[in-house]
Amino acid sequence: MKYTVVLTADFPSIATELLAPHFDVIAHPTEHGRSEEDMITILAEADAAITLLQDPITRNVLEANPNLRCVSNFAVGYNNIDVDAARELGVVVTNTPGVLTEATADLTLALILAITRRIVEGDDEMRTLGRCEWEPLKLLGASLQGKRLGIIGMGRIGTAVATRARAFGMEVIGVRSGESLDELLATSDIVSVHAPLTRETHHLLNATTLAKMKRGAYVINTARGAIVDENALCDALESGQLRGAGLDVYEFEPEVNPRLLRMKNVVILPHIGSATEEARNAMARIAATNVLLFLRGKEPLHRVV
Ligand code: DGY
Repeated sequence: MKYTVVLTADFPSIATELLAPHFDVIAHPTEHGRSEEDMITILAEADAAITLLQDPITRNVLEANPNLRCVSNFAVGYNNIDVDAARELGVVVTNTPGVLTEATADLTLALILAITRRIVEGDDEMRTLGRCEWEPLKLLGASLQGKRLGIIGMGRIGTAVATRARAFGMEVIGVRSGESLDELLATSDIVSVHAPLTRETHHLLNATTLAKMKRGAYVINTARGAIVDENALCDALESGQLRGAGLDVYEFEPEVNPRLLRMKNVVILPHIGSATEEARNAMARIAATNVLLFLRGKEPLHRVV
């Protein structure tokens, strides 16, 4: 019997190259804002699937598609999947850790530099004026040398960010999820989020915890949007409690809080932390290999359930 693998988006071609010689592959174009009903339809014929971090793989979806035995998420995060339901229903869930660590850490530093040195504002000015007008008081930002970076989530990516930040002369303080945040919040000039989104980390940065931060500090988030209460973040940015924010992820992706779109002291990117050719190809290779191994009765490379 030939198994069917559903790809829920356009992935790097290595995924199809690895799977198509062995299985029937059904590839769907990338779509945003899919509902549970959309997922149930798309996965109807799947024995295994490579899924996107925004595909809702809920209990309803898993129960409605009993042939689906393996969900290979094309991401290190898997908060889009009801892992308790998967465990109960015997569905294997895999992810793609490791290969996007450096790319995501690089983008975190890019956001730190962009927001502290006002790079996007400078770029806008150049395009508007069509001239380069040097002035002693124009677009003054903040230096990184000697500043303290607080890292929430000292896992692979948090640790890689720490290495880069030290090379810029920063002092680093880090906590793992669940540890007390108070000292980090009270003493950091920049707080960068690198924790997974779980029940415990949902709105970890909220009105109360943002108020504990140093006045004029910055928040960076390249992890998951809902770790930060986006409305509370906007309040803190508007009141001056925070000087700026660099964001790659949003609480209600694909939507972005319209208040953020209006603020100059925010740099906003479309969730591109892992978007290098190298990282995305490696993620596709791992996601496909996880499926290949599973459907051949072997242990996938990175199983989370
Ligand atoms: C992940 O892998 O979880 C990132 O958010 C996307 O690469």
